[in-house]
Amino acid sequence: MEYLTLARVLHVLAVVVWIGGVSMVTTVIIPAVKRMSSREEQMETFEKIEGRFSLQAKITTLLTALTGFYMLHLYGWERLLDLRFWWIHAMILVWIIFTVILFILEPFFLHRLFRKYAAEDPEKAFRIIHRAHWVLLVLSLITIFGAVAGSHGWYFV
Ligand code: HEM
Repeated sequence: MEYLTLARVLHVLAVVVWIGGVSMVTTVIIPAVKRMSSREEQMETFEKIEGRFSLQAKITTLLTALTGFYMLHLYGWERLLDLRFWWIHAMILVWIIFTVILFILEPFFLHRLFRKYAAEDPEKAFRIIHRAHWVLLVLSLITIFGAVAGSHGWYFV
């Protein structure tokens, strides 16, 4: 039972660092970068910050998955067949989206694509990337709402 509690503590800590970082990038850093006047300064600042955050996000997504699947194993995988536990599906969906972005899309495609678009039309490139961050943040916050409520017995379906 103590291992279950430890897994829950590590899971929540990882989620706080990870989604807290996404919130900071979305609500503070991208708006500040968008207001910078020089194109070079915009790119340099954004890439430096995202580069550092990307490593944190990779480590915390891995820790979230390890602790999450461990808890699911203890609670029983059959939860995945019950729609009352929709927030478990939401957690796994959010994790899959971020994992694909961080480990596949960003290093192999998105980074190059963003540089290309930012060189042609930086305003549009930052607008798109800002919107994408908002979508991910809102999805993550809804998931956290559902997960905390559901874990403590407040079901919606
Ligand atoms: C591989 C992906 C994931 C798996 C397998 C997973 C699994 C779990 C499990 C089994 C629980 C415990 C449920 C219970 O106590 O009834 C839990 C709790 C929780 N998870 Fe996840 N999770 C994953 C990803 C995420 C993500 C991406 C987030 C945030 C966006 C998240 C946020 C939370 C929160 C906030 C709790 C509730 C802790 C509490 O109030 O006790 N999880 N997760």
